[in-house]
Amino acid sequence: MSKTIAVIPGDGIGPEIMTATLRVLDALDCGLAYDFADAGMVALDKHGDLLPKATLDKIAEHKVALKGPLTTPIGGGFTSINVTLRRHFDLYANVRPAISFPGTKSRYENIDIITVRENTEGAYLAEGQTLSEDGEVAQSIIRNTRKGSTRIVRYAFEMAVKKGRKKITAVHKANILKTSTGLFLNVAREIAKEYPQIEFNEMIVDNTCMQLVMRPEQFDVIVTTNLFGDIISDLCAGLVGGLGLAPGDNIGEHAAIFEAVHGSAPDIAGKGIANPCALLLAAADMLDHLGQVEKGTKLRQAIRDTLTHDRDSVTPDLGGKGTTESFGEAIARRVAA
Ligand code: NAI
Ligand code: MG
Repeated sequence: MSKTIAVIPGDGIGPEIMTATLRVLDALDCGLAYDFADAGMVALDKHGDLLPKATLDKIAEHKVALKGPLTTPIGGGFTSINVTLRRHFDLYANVRPAISFPGTKSRYENIDIITVRENTEGAYLAEGQTLSEDGEVAQSIIRNTRKGSTRIVRYAFEMAVKKGRKKITAVHKANILKTSTGLFLNVAREIAKEYPQIEFNEMIVDNTCMQLVMRPEQFDVIVTTNLFGDIISDLCAGLVGGLGLAPGDNIGEHAAIFEAVHGSAPDIAGKGIANPCALLLAAADMLDHLGQVEKGTKLRQAIRDTLTHDRDSVTPDLGGKGTTESFGEAIARRVAA
């Protein structure tokens, strides 16, 4: 069985970490073919467009894309390419796993939390942000819909079932934001009843932040609205040692884009020392999404084993003396074994 995915190497360290990632995917033998597409500065230089239509067409055709970081030029009125992609494909679920890995500087071990963030509505609407003429009153609106809440909560439960997760926590502020996050919470309670095999609880967002810092082991999957999810997913990345190992999955009904959370790292681009793990973990999530859960699990385990046993191959950001290539090769050897 062969499945073609769109591959967007991207800017800065993007092509370096993408090469290492595809090398590992090939070694995993998961029957993927790659259709390469340009986006970002690379596309602006080659085609005069940060996000060429041909790239959008390829993502639409294959429905799954693996994407490197993209540099959005500052000024000049460019909208973020990532925001454009999210809107174009209505990528409503932003899935952010935070997993502890051995040999990384972090405050906790054994963390395995997935934050499922609603990514199209809530407090992050482009419209309705106003500033009065005298500059004294700024306003914005929060809008949650039953449709938006339903699809994100449904996604979280279905994902939990598929990945064998045990518990979902709905994070909200329905005691204060009674209508908007109240609607989200009510929808979550209703849908939870359909999944008796998954433990369900609810937690107010400020308490959640404290609990995450003090007793993170109580969390498994968190589902929440846009603003809270933005903050909580970064908090969770911090619990496991930062962005070097943080994948981000952007899921819609018609397309899904898997990427690293970090950016194009211009300060180390071209030096061959970028850590490919965040993109590799995004690729593992992509394999889960494609129904190849065993391969995804194997890839995560290979990363874990490499970090434990092949310290020499590891990149400098994780305390090693290795390169993107040596790190990738070590992981590739393990997945092929
Ligand atoms: P950044 O994440 O690119 O870099 C922050 C720091 O982390 C730098 O010191 C960098 O060297 C380091 N770093 C990041 N990824 C690394 C890796 N894989 N291995 C080792 N070290 C790594 O964030 P920054 O500097 O704020 O943004 C740079 C560019 O990336 C900007 O143009 C921004 O717009 C873009 N960006 C793109 C994203 C995307 O496409 N998803 C996400 C975030 C930023
Ligand atoms: Mg954020």
